[in-house]
Amino acid sequence: MLVTVLGATGKTGSLIVAELLARGFPVRGAVRRPEAADELRARGAEAVLADLRSDTGALAAALAGSDVVINAAAASDPQPGLAEAVDRDGAINAVKAAEKAGADRFVQVSSLFADRPDEGPEFLHRVLRAKQASDLALAESALAWTIVRPGGLTDDPGTGLVRIADRLTIAPGIPRTIPRADVAAVTAAVLDEPSSRCRGFDLTSGTTAIADAIAA
Ligand SMILES: NC(=O)c1ccc[n+]([C@@H]2O[C@H](COP(=O)([O-])OP(=O)(O)OC[C@H]3O[C@@H](n4cnc5c(N)ncnc54)[C@H](OP(=O)(O)O)[C@@H]3O)[C@@H](O)[C@H]2O)c1
Repeated sequence: MLVTVLGATGKTGSLIVAELLARGFPVRGAVRRPEAADELRARGAEAVLADLRSDTGALAAALAGSDVVINAAAASDPQPGLAEAVDRDGAINAVKAAEKAGADRFVQVSSLFADRPDEGPEFLHRVLRAKQASDLALAESALAWTIVRPGGLTDDPGTGLVRIADRLTIAPGIPRTIPRADVAAVTAAVLDEPSSRCRGFDLTSGTTAIADAIAA
């Protein structure tokens, strides 16, 4: 089962590639720079050059043969219009390309509050609305989708302990962050959990082991 990771050079994407390789999946990383492709190959993955903003046909060619596409790409720069270009239009383009390439599953790394942008922090409203639009397009696609909505990402070591729900209650005193390593572990683990097909869920650090939280 070939899994292609979009945004494989990102902090979370790189950890997702490592999780998938450790779990024995054949992995292809989609990257924008040739040096990054060489690094991925050295780690034991296939590599392909791809940009979410390319035309759908070119992106579909980069995804050819993939059973699963994981999208961990995002605009990491607050430049005006970039969230709309990458997190909304680019992610929608990736969904169309995955359909065109004949993939079965699509796992989207989204964000807490992407399904309710107005409840998220005001400075994130624009990004959350962009993610909401692409998440909705994915859920309406023919793909078996999973939308992972993590809280604020940290670079702390993974704990393996999380909180997952269709919609988490976010209240003072309850953690709303999560290490990227735990997001990567959850993103890889959903591939082994059929009940995660066509589901979206909020994700933060918590007290439940990842496999149990996903199964529940
Ligand atoms: N930061 C947070 O607290 C937070 C909270 C919740 C959710 N999230 C979401 O979690 C995900 C992972 O975040 P992160 O901070 O780990 O990501 P990151 O390190 O900022 O990585 C972003 C990735 O997206 C790629 N990318 C950007 N534009 C692209 C394009 N046009 N085509 C293809 N790839 C493109 C980058 O590639 P290059 O290396 O080529 O630039 C990089 O691999 C994102 O969706 C983010 O929005 C973040």
